[in-house]
Amino acid sequence: MIDYTGKTALVTGAGRRLGKHIALSLAAHGMNIIVHYRSSGNEARETARLAQQKGVRAWAIRADFADPEEPANFAEQCAAAAGEVAVLVNSASIFRHGGILDAPGRQFVENLQINALAPLELCRWFAKQCANGSIINILDARMDDYVNDHIPYALSKQALNSLTRMLSLELAPRIRVNGVAPGLILPSEVQGEAYFEKHAGANPLQTRGSEEDISEAVLYLLGANFVTGQVIFVDGGRHLRGYSYDG
Ligand SMILES: NC(=O)c1ccc[n+]([C@@H]2O[C@H](COP(=O)([O-])OP(=O)(O)OC[C@H]3O[C@@H](n4cnc5c(N)ncnc54)[C@H](OP(=O)(O)O)[C@@H]3O)[C@@H](O)[C@H]2O)c1
Repeated sequence: MIDYTGKTALVTGAGRRLGKHIALSLAAHGMNIIVHYRSSGNEARETARLAQQKGVRAWAIRADFADPEEPANFAEQCAAAAGEVAVLVNSASIFRHGGILDAPGRQFVENLQINALAPLELCRWFAKQCANGSIINILDARMDDYVNDHIPYALSKQALNSLTRMLSLELAPRIRVNGVAPGLILPSEVQGEAYFEKHAGANPLQTRGSEEDISEAVLYLLGANFVTGQVIFVDGGRHLRGYSYDG
């Protein structure tokens, strides 16, 4: 088990929801935290305050990854504030409706930019600024299914999955690169609780997961010093059922 106490982690999209939970779990294990946010400034500052209460240093830093120039500017700000970063968790993401025949081209570009290319840019920077470290990319348990109403999103997560494998080879042995693929954890505003109740029985374990389940997978991968290029599906086994047309 690697001891990350006193090292710094950058968690993107950490003002709210899963990113916040991951950030606070890392803080509870003694890591300083850079809390990235785009629009949730108050929530991000609150996440940083909660991290500080655990006795670590924490910063809330804003960036909009829809702008291809932003990840590089953001990385500079992170380095200026916190110095060397030893852990990068790419959790920020957009999740919008769009089918293969009707989603506008710009929606594909936007999803790829925010969900795959911004993480890639951060991984490149990360690899230059630390001697040894660990990257966790947050994927989606259904990225390889055919979920016909979220095609640009699925494509972007497939791209991030492929990048995880490529980077794990390219950055070894200094840096391990792994993924966590959540299933039903927190409903989006569009889905709501009703969607989750309806689909909770669709996975073999017939339940839904929690934020703790995701943070525990992240913590495992951070400590697993003989594991790289791996994806842990935290989805009650849903991915084993594979392809489906909708829902
Ligand atoms: N929730 C689930 O059950 C579930 C299931 C499968 C996969 N996942 C994956 O797990 C991760 C976290 O899930 P989540 O539900 O917590 O995510 P989320 O609430 O949909 O989004 C996370 C954060 O991404 C940030 N973000 C959105 N657009 C951005 C942009 N243009 N630039 C920079 N940041 C941007 C937002 O920050 P601001 O709020 O500051 O704008 C948001 O808080 C995501 O990668 C998601 O795909 C989640």
